Amino acid sequence: MKKIISLVLAALMVTSAFAAPKGKVAVKVGVSMPTKDLQRWNQDGANMKKSLEKQGYKVDLQYANNDVNTQVNQLENMISTGCKVLVIASIDGSALKNVLAQAKAKKIPVIAYDRLIMNSDAVTYYATFDNWKVGVFQGQYLEEKLNLKNRTKNDPVYMELFTGDPGDNNINFFFGGAMEVLEPYIKSGVIVVKSKQTAKAQCATLNWSTEEAQKRMENLISAQGYGPNKNRLDAVYSSNDSCAAGITNALVNAGYTADNFPLVTGQDCDITSTKNMIKGIQAMSVFKDTRTLAAKVVEMVDAICKGTNPPINDKKTYNNGTGIIPSFLCEPVYADKSNYKKLLIDSGYYTAKQLQ
Ligand code: GAL
Repeated sequence: MKKIISLVLAALMVTSAFAAPKGKVAVKVGVSMPTKDLQRWNQDGANMKKSLEKQGYKVDLQYANNDVNTQVNQLENMISTGCKVLVIASIDGSALKNVLAQAKAKKIPVIAYDRLIMNSDAVTYYATFDNWKVGVFQGQYLEEKLNLKNRTKNDPVYMELFTGDPGDNNINFFFGGAMEVLEPYIKSGVIVVKSKQTAKAQCATLNWSTEEAQKRMENLISAQGYGPNKNRLDAVYSSNDSCAAGITNALVNAGYTADNFPLVTGQDCDITSTKNMIKGIQAMSVFKDTRTLAAKVVEMVDAICKGTNPPINDKKTYNNGTGIIPSFLCEPVYADKSNYKKLLIDSGYYTAKQLQ
């Protein structure tokens, strides 16, 4: 009985600490983003800050310059300076176990933002997009545009493959979803990857870096003799736009133009990539409306603070090594030259001027 009473008291104390009445000190939320280098995270960070502040929270927003130690230090600081909830887009999903043990000890709930945090039992919820679907969209796009279903190994297509940072759990879903579609064609010889670099680790791009992707594409071009009047290259599978931008630079430098450009896939509808789609030098992207993601995470924070049920629509997909993390998956949307205006401009995501 004593135990029950003290548990109830503890719960009441936690709830009242969160539910600061108007005029009292606002609850502080720590938002930890990986880097300012990629457009995506600047947008996500700014969105999160704005949306949380609108709901009356105080926000400690930090960017970690793609450096794991910096992210760990920033999190330690958030924990010791009174953040009541942490929202984290990790750099290396497996590197936060120790620092998050400190959060758990202080009963600070943790929401993994976009990227799942692995091997830590401190993760309370996960909010992301349906990442497997992103990969499937990309794979199916190539399947359709290259007419793979009607080809044989005597009439193959030539392709190279790129995915993102090896420490980002999302690549298992992006690359996995795409390979679910493409791998049978690689096995049957309908898709030829001349470099033979088809394993995820061989296709990975450190920090999802545009420069790294460009370098690898340049190496592939020279090693395999690809070029508009040289060896045929029909497509480059890329898991996202920051890599696609580097791949596209290398292909432009190799002499490809909109008339003969290999099909390059992407994800995020970054401004550079959307402009490239308009120019005809990137084939498609996947739009993930980060406003929706931010809104869902704010709902999660609110539910945690008020002791109500957070929005959850997936309780089976994301096991971080310590068990399934209850998740909310937002819907990704296929994007290309034909629908970008409706998706990106009409919805107010970008202004027409930003895409000029
Ligand atoms: C992933 C994210 C993608 C992409 C990539 C590089 O984790 O889901 O949208 O932006 O990181 O930042």
